[in-house]
Amino acid sequence: MNLPAPHCAAPIGIFDSGLGGLSVLRAVRAQLPAEQLVYVADSRYAPYGQRDDDFIADRTLAIGEWLVAQGAKALVVACNTATAQSIEFVRARLSIPLVGVEPGVKPAAQLSKSRVAGVLATQVTLRSARFQALVARHADDLRVLCQPGHGLVEAVERCDIGSPELVALLRGYVQPMLDAGADTLVLGCTHYPFLDTAIRSIVGERMTLVDTSIAIARQLERVLDQHGLRATAADGESTEPAANPRARFCSTSDGAHLRALAAALLGIEAPVECVQIPSRRTRELEGNAA
Ligand code: DGL
Repeated sequence: MNLPAPHCAAPIGIFDSGLGGLSVLRAVRAQLPAEQLVYVADSRYAPYGQRDDDFIADRTLAIGEWLVAQGAKALVVACNTATAQSIEFVRARLSIPLVGVEPGVKPAAQLSKSRVAGVLATQVTLRSARFQALVARHADDLRVLCQPGHGLVEAVERCDIGSPELVALLRGYVQPMLDAGADTLVLGCTHYPFLDTAIRSIVGERMTLVDTSIAIARQLERVLDQHGLRATAADGESTEPAANPRARFCSTSDGAHLRALAAALLGIEAPVECVQIPSRRTRELEGNAA
């Protein structure tokens, strides 16, 4: 496929297995208000945390290619799980710059006074070689308590960010960290920043919560500058996020939850396009189901 070279006014693609990447989109809008954004939630196949590595790489590449075909000038893989499993594979196959996300072990090592930090992330992220290398590189004298957040992505996907059941589930993950002396909690999945109020209701001020979305937005800004791809105010009619969301929302599911969460948590009232992005593995899945 021959596509024109992306230009400054082209959109940035942001992708997650589901709704979690909205926490990254929120930071990108604040940092880069002149940019057009296209968000893809692969909610039909979420959560990725229970998928095999090949499935995650297959979906990440298919959605990256789809976003390139939509004219994206850069791609943010706003999913720790997809980044951990497939960023190098996808980077080698796409023609646009990529920015991934990873759990904030480095900032936790800088922030923790007790030298004990918890990391809440998906099982796939925690067992990945990329995460193990991150801990080996930055943890040094920091004791890192890794806890898979089973059930948390599913809760956010159904727009549950504060039910008593969810708080009880979170308490089971976080209380043992507090008991072990942790003063820092890394939110190692982009769905989890939407649970910050629920987490605060358990930990109070005893823990610093590490959310890397602002750092990712700054990294994206640097990458755009390096490639001469940053939009200026002149590329759009308004740089005021509230006046002009400058974002297109797409979901591989029915989109109702994406629309609800964008409205409730980001204050963006936008239609959601239902898109089909088939890939080798989903063709196999759906072929077998037929
Ligand atoms: N938001 C994704 C992440 O950052 C969730 C992965 C999943 O779907 O399990 O890891």
